[in-house]
Amino acid sequence: MIVTIDGVAASGKSSVASGVARRLNIPYVSSGLLYRAATLLALEAGTDLGDAPALIALLSGSPLRLEPLPEGNRIFLTPVGEQETGAERDLTADAHTSAVDAGVSALAQLPELREWVNAQLRALTPPFVAEGRDMGTAVFPQAQAKFFLTASPRVRALRRVKERLEDVAEVEAALVARDAKDKAQSAPAADAQLIDTSTLDLSGVIAAVLRGLHQPASSD
Ligand code: DC
Repeated sequence: MIVTIDGVAASGKSSVASGVARRLNIPYVSSGLLYRAATLLALEAGTDLGDAPALIALLSGSPLRLEPLPEGNRIFLTPVGEQETGAERDLTADAHTSAVDAGVSALAQLPELREWVNAQLRALTPPFVAEGRDMGTAVFPQAQAKFFLTASPRVRALRRVKERLEDVAEVEAALVARDAKDKAQSAPAADAQLIDTSTLDLSGVIAAVLRGLHQPASSD
């Protein structure tokens, strides 16, 4: 079984995917973490985030391993020269810095990079809950159940502010700008169930997804 949970930035996708996966007792897969790890490696190597051939060459020499645990994904790199020893570097924390936040959309716009991420994802063995922007459309169109989470920019900004103690108007503007950048790959699948999370808390969204698993999306 594959369940996809896509949605706009700060709509609560990872918390919901993690909660649903735990209830189903299967792993969840964070596709954003692959985009983040690729961006981190590029920043560290000084590779231009718009140079697809250079990025693909860099990633081909940098074996990454996504560990899709139910409580949170981790990503590991086998550094050059460590293939023999099997020693790995955990990139997870470094993949969530503001430098990576600022650079990841540029890299994620390159079709070659999207194909690279999608190939990593398609190599994983189901069952799992896949979370991202285009899991139900480009990557797993055959998924058994698809969800797309939305929430108003103001509600999403308030959620972020609560986490990070930032200015709500600034955060709201940044989210709207990121929505516009991510738009090309962030449309709901035609057969996805849309959930507006503006007035729901986390357990309310998880309950809505679990209810939705038992009923197909309506066709109108
Ligand atoms: O979900 P996240 O914030 O960890 O994702 C990081 C970035 O990666 C996000 O700005 C958009 C991009 N992304 C994407 O383009 N497609 C996906 N399936 C997942 C993430």
